[in-house]
Amino acid sequence: MFDMTPDRAEALDGEARRILRLNDRGGYTVPTEGLYPYQWNWDSAFAALGFAAFDLDRAWTELETLMAGQWENGMLPHIQFHKADPGYFPGADVWGTEDAVGKGPGRVASSGISQPPVVASFALSTYRRDEAAGLERLRALFPRLMGLHRWFITHRAESGAVAITHPWEAGRDNAPDWDGAMAAFEPEGVAPYTRRDTGHVDPRMRPTKSDYDRYIWLVQFGRDRRWDDAAIAAESPFRVADPTMTFTLMRASRDMVEIARALGEPTQEIEGWIARLEAGAETLWNAGTACYDSRDLRSGQLTGCVSNASFLSWWGGLRKGQPIDTLRRVLAAASYTVPSFDPAHPKFESLRYWRGPVWGIMNMMISTGLKEAGLIDEADRIRRDTAGLISDKGFAEYFDPQDGTPAGGGTFTWTAAIWLGWASPNAKEL
Ligand code: DGY
Repeated sequence: MFDMTPDRAEALDGEARRILRLNDRGGYTVPTEGLYPYQWNWDSAFAALGFAAFDLDRAWTELETLMAGQWENGMLPHIQFHKADPGYFPGADVWGTEDAVGKGPGRVASSGISQPPVVASFALSTYRRDEAAGLERLRALFPRLMGLHRWFITHRAESGAVAITHPWEAGRDNAPDWDGAMAAFEPEGVAPYTRRDTGHVDPRMRPTKSDYDRYIWLVQFGRDRRWDDAAIAAESPFRVADPTMTFTLMRASRDMVEIARALGEPTQEIEGWIARLEAGAETLWNAGTACYDSRDLRSGQLTGCVSNASFLSWWGGLRKGQPIDTLRRVLAAASYTVPSFDPAHPKFESLRYWRGPVWGIMNMMISTGLKEAGLIDEADRIRRDTAGLISDKGFAEYFDPQDGTPAGGGTFTWTAAIWLGWASPNAKEL
């Protein structure tokens, strides 16, 4: 499939394994040294995909430490602050979740929001590598995974699609999808703060100050309500239904059906979630752009954004009303695919985080879904581009879709993980 010698592929496999070991802090993995010094939710789930390629026990441990940080109400925080690190802002003190509604006693310090729920998907793929060895570990995780999905359906899916309460929750921090909702409120009263991210990474590759003021304002807003989901849902100016969340939860719920079957557990409740999410996805379809979009639940408006999250519908398992023509247009417009934002749009910025750059994890999900749907040419192009970027430019956090410039953090856990679990010519299909 790739123009890559076995020696080169082997060398890259070795480098990816080295990166996962390098970022291992003993039971959990940081996304990268310095910029992200804690355990991030979906980064950690992707780390399990990578570890599973060479150390299954370690993959299970990653999933177990991740799920151990789950709140009593089922919410899985987007950051677990295992050990304080002054190099990151905002830390545990800013989140102030000690007495959060729904957290429960004895939990690790954490943020008060969640992230795309990919964990059940990688629990299933880890199990599939060795079902006999994994069965009891999967069984132990099952109630927690059920609790997580139930939490999303109860607290985030009022429109059927899954809503976010903070841009960080979608993982696509500064995507143009949120511009309208972010402009609709003024970040008045934000306590003075010093950003740390721009001390680690070129500011041109990061969100703007205007974004950051609002990120911190929304953290203060949640903290003032003790992270009470009902109060935030009722009062926050920011609530956007998002394709990343909707399609990852849809996929993970389909994977939960497989998990439940393997464990001899009932599937009816999970099937109800899938039906609800499928109906919700229809509310994200934008006939004008011919693809899935985000919807601002405060204004009721679609955002008009064609992003890489728009193309997660195949990963979610949808097979009708698909954005294939829009995907083909976007693939044709980029040297390296899939750009995180439409290159034809005036807001496209090739280096700025989620406003243009290519992300390997999104590519893995988009390409896998396309392949499952029989769209082999597009699936192969995305995998080839990802492998080429990593081989030529290294294991960066993200890449410029025009010239491949590596951007953001280096020696990045999830880039190494998707190499081992998917992009490498030696990756085992699961
Ligand atoms: C950051 O700090 O940039 C993170 O994306 C927040 O999750």
